[in-house]
Amino acid sequence: MDKSMQGRYRTQLAEKIRKRQAKVGVLGLGYIGLPLALEFAKRGFSVIGIDIDANRVRQIQEGKSYSPDVNGTELKRQVRSGRLKATDGFELLEGLDCISISVPTPLRGEETPDISCIIQAVREVHKRRKKGQLIALESSTYPGTTEEVVLPILSEGGYKVGRDFFLAFSPERLDPGNVKYHTHEIPRVIGGVTTACGELAGLLYRQIVKDVTIVSSPRTAEMIKLLENAFRNVNIAFINELAQLCFRLGIDIWEVIEGAKTKPFGFMPFYPGPGVGGMCIPVAPRYILWKAHKEGIKLPLLERSCKVNSDMPLYVVERVRKLLAEGQRRGRALKGSKILLLGMAYKKDVADTRMTPALKILHCLRQQGAEVSFSDPYVPKILNYGEVLESKPLSPALLKDMDCAIIVTDHSNVDYRQVIRHSRLVLDTKNALKGLTGPNVFRL
Ligand SMILES: NC(=O)c1ccc[n+]([C@@H]2O[C@H](COP(=O)([O-])OP(=O)(O)OC[C@H]3O[C@@H](n4cnc5c(N)ncnc54)[C@H](O)[C@@H]3O)[C@@H](O)[C@H]2O)c1
Repeated sequence: MDKSMQGRYRTQLAEKIRKRQAKVGVLGLGYIGLPLALEFAKRGFSVIGIDIDANRVRQIQEGKSYSPDVNGTELKRQVRSGRLKATDGFELLEGLDCISISVPTPLRGEETPDISCIIQAVREVHKRRKKGQLIALESSTYPGTTEEVVLPILSEGGYKVGRDFFLAFSPERLDPGNVKYHTHEIPRVIGGVTTACGELAGLLYRQIVKDVTIVSSPRTAEMIKLLENAFRNVNIAFINELAQLCFRLGIDIWEVIEGAKTKPFGFMPFYPGPGVGGMCIPVAPRYILWKAHKEGIKLPLLERSCKVNSDMPLYVVERVRKLLAEGQRRGRALKGSKILLLGMAYKKDVADTRMTPALKILHCLRQQGAEVSFSDPYVPKILNYGEVLESKPLSPALLKDMDCAIIVTDHSNVDYRQVIRHSRLVLDTKNALKGLTGPNVFRL
């Protein structure tokens, strides 16, 4: 027998994975977990998806997709074939061979990692253990989580990692709504607690993705994921600062970026905007900063980038205030003005509103006495501190009724010519009006 494949459970599990007979469980069926569960099912694995949200489970059982990355027809096919099952109970964990955990990792308050969902999920796994399972954590988290938090729970009762069970961290890098890169096209990095853990996790993920890189440890893989998001945060902050300078200098930042992009090496474009949202870009830097703080280390550049991006909504409101006061409708104040936010989602062509800067803009405008409404083809309503705000259908009458429309999200299916034609004033924070001009049109 190959020496690297010694160990009874390890050999058995490898065999099951190769033959696609391993039973796969996905805990957390959100933006990340559902596409992953579907991918395993498509490749012939028997998959159990588990989520505490009974509503999501029911939708999957009915073959209805709530994710931009999951095709409803394919979902229906896999559910009908019996390869993909969804449940809101944890009982079925018992019979599984491989378990992937994709639960939320938000912030508690504005700065502290909240990994309570990981801990709850891991405890459920531990309660229903069978020997020889592979557990892969996919949720983005701070370096050390897998080895310092997950491993001790799974080791309770004398289970030995690398022999009785296998544990790895494999960050998900999906970009929801991105039509170019789907789960199976996005390369994976994996860090196993032991060599066997890394190899088995690598074997599993190679069944669904083309490219897998095994790194030396879970903490390395955890840091890789945070680096990717923090890198975006810092660069977006830089371009947001530069956009503010360019505006003062009368230079079009969007033209500057297009020009810089003509350099075939050493430059990567990032774009300004109303702030960052979602569960990755604003969150990852906080996970790094929290860990750095625990080590007594300061990361002022990263810290500053968070501040620049979180202040962008205030900058947008200030620009609107000045436009109302100085523009064609000179003398108009924010107080009493009607403002329409075009887009509530934190990014283009998705319905996700988590940590969206649009809400911060809304609050800030309201604080200054503006009457604010929103229109988003993907977001029918949003809960704002207990108040339900409903999206208004975009129409010439709505636009004409507004003092200003702010393009917060550059959804593709919005008729921007109509927006220009019927708005008194438009502030475009995303260059959604690229190539379109008008005396009423202003850009970030
Ligand atoms: N959305 C993204 O763009 C993205 C990209 C890469 C990585 N991630 C990371 O992936 C993880 C999941 O993110 P998401 O966007 O899919 O979140 P999500 O909120 O869309 O989905 C998470 C799901 O987990 C469920 N859940 C919570 N606790 C659970 C438990 N104990 N057991 C079972 N289910 C539970 C929730 O009900 C929810 O349906 C996060 O760590 C996130 O940072 C997200």
